[in-house]
Order: sequence, then structure tokens, then C-alpha cells
Amino acid sequence: MEQIAIPDNVTKKEERYKLLSKQIKSLLSKDDNTLTSLANFTAALNDGLSYVSWVGFYLYDGDKLYLGPFQGKVACTEIKLGSGVCGTAASKSETLIVPDVNKFPGHIACDPDSKSEIVIPLVKTDGTLFGVLDLDSTEFNSFDETDGKYLKEICNFLIKEIL
Ligand code: SME
Repeated sequence: MEQIAIPDNVTKKEERYKLLSKQIKSLLSKDDNTLTSLANFTAALNDGLSYVSWVGFYLYDGDKLYLGPFQGKVACTEIKLGSGVCGTAASKSETLIVPDVNKFPGHIACDPDSKSEIVIPLVKTDGTLFGVLDLDSTEFNSFDETDGKYLKEICNFLIKEIL
């Protein structure tokens, strides 16, 4: 059975991401349905990153972002481009690291316990927007440049090799 297993004695964030990235790459297959891959992708990140309280996709339908596969509490179903952290990351095609969501103008509080967040835009190789990957934490300052670097790398693999 496929599983994500990162030993507890690997404590450095960077080292944990390296193992997680390797395991996600072997878990996902181009032969699987897109929804299947996105669903397992969120489960793998949820398994591998202990400080994450919510992880999931918002997908772009040509007009707005809508809730895709995720792990965590129920969430907002639709987000307009330019709204909240997700809509801003999508419209700017920019990864956003938000150390304190209370300080982000227009932050959409799906979960009132969410304190920090990172959103990675997913742009296909033809330049079109696929959606965003959103990770939340109930602690402030959970996400940093290391998360940004590795999540971008894993998302890049997803876009180029799987979708
Ligand atoms: N906080 C996000 C909304 C999505 S939830 O966190 C799952 C935002 O401001 O875009």
C-alpha cells in the first residue's frame, strides 16, 4: 500500500521536505485521474507536515476559484480572483506567505482558528491558471521561504508531470 512515512528523528524542515517530495513523486502517476492525484496530493502534504491544519486546492474555472480536493475542516466554496490570500496569489501569479492572517487585508476566514497561511499559484505550461494550493496553520509564522521553495518544487512536478 502507498503511504507517506517520514521518520520522527528527521526534524529539520528542509530534510522533511526532501523526503516528502521524493515520496509524493513516487505516489503520483500520470495514469491516474486528475481528481485522484489532487486528492492524494493533499493527503500526502497533510500527513507529512504536522503544522498544517488545512491543505487543499482552489481550482480556476475561467471566472472564479472553486473548492477542490482538500484535507481539513469544511471551507468556503468559491473565491473571486483578487479576493483573500488565494484570489490575490492567483491574480498576481505569486506565492504568498502570510505570517499573520489578521494583517492581510481581505483575508477570508474560512476557519476562525487559522493564524498563518501560504498560497502557491498553479500555472500550467501553456500559461493558463489551473488554480492555487492553500495551506493553513493554527499557529502564527508557520510558513517560511523553505515551505515556499519546496511547495513550489512539488507543485511544479504536479503541473509538469501529472496534470
Ligand atoms: N484564507 C483563504 C481562504 C481559504 S481557506 O483558508 C481554506 C483566503 O484568504 O484566500
